[in-house]
Amino acid sequence: MDARGRRHVPLRWPLLMLSLIISSSLISATSSDKVTLELYYETLCPYCANFIVNYLYKLFDTGLIEITDLKLIPYGNAKIRPNSTVVCQHGPYECLLNTIEACAIDVWPDVHAHFPFIYCVEKLIYDGKKTEWETCFLKLGLDEKPVTDCYESGRGKELNLRNAAVTGDLRPPHTYVPWVTVDGQPLYDDYIDFVSFICKAYKGSPVPAACSGLSAADVSEKGSLNIFTPVCYTGVTIKSLFSGITTAVASWVRGVTEAAALE
Ligand SMILES: *[C@@H]1O[C@H](CO)[C@@H](O)[C@H](O)[C@H]1NC(C)=O
Repeated sequence: MDARGRRHVPLRWPLLMLSLIISSSLISATSSDKVTLELYYETLCPYCANFIVNYLYKLFDTGLIEITDLKLIPYGNAKIRPNSTVVCQHGPYECLLNTIEACAIDVWPDVHAHFPFIYCVEKLIYDGKKTEWETCFLKLGLDEKPVTDCYESGRGKELNLRNAAVTGDLRPPHTYVPWVTVDGQPLYDDYIDFVSFICKAYKGSPVPAACSGLSAADVSEKGSLNIFTPVCYTGVTIKSLFSGITTAVASWVRGVTEAAALE
């Protein structure tokens, strides 16, 4: 018998399997152990779409979502005018989609319910098909009505103002998006490595399989800036994108008269 004999105690695995069958949330039974990951983003920043579509989804693929409290804040570098209307970095269509995603999160608070929708919309954006976002309701078998009601009532605007406040309260303040924090600490240019940071921050047990094989070195070695930082900086208006979508926006942004004013 070797020193590791205990790893082969036969009762352990059946019990684990049973607990997984009874409730997948047993792994995160003590929700205070959960690591909080916040993503501050704006819907049309291509690097945000890239992060969600090619990286963040792994939380669900690997089961890490069971130890993670994922919070999505679709506001990013938008600004509030003195009359409390919102101006978005990539123009009015971004404001529309920021609001739609904020509404989806509000209508379906369970991350397992709203993330597939956010993912679907961001995938369309990533593929250059942002105007097809409404197909996500049908694709996912979701009821469109509560989300459009939220958008058309004052609720969507209220959510935007709340997300503006939450984003504005960031300390240190964000300087670009995607801006990822783990337990309140910004990951800066290491945001792609969010899995390492979650695993490092997680103090509960059992440690998810996705974390085994990651050492502390994986986290500490990184810290140098990427040469081409894949982010959208604050205070930058993407003029070409902006003017390109203005016409398309006019037909899509129902009731938002600003679209015409921004020509
Ligand atoms: C808010 O102010 C902007 C100019 O700063 C103006 O273009 C817009 O029409 C105003 N919106 C409302 C609803 O008053």
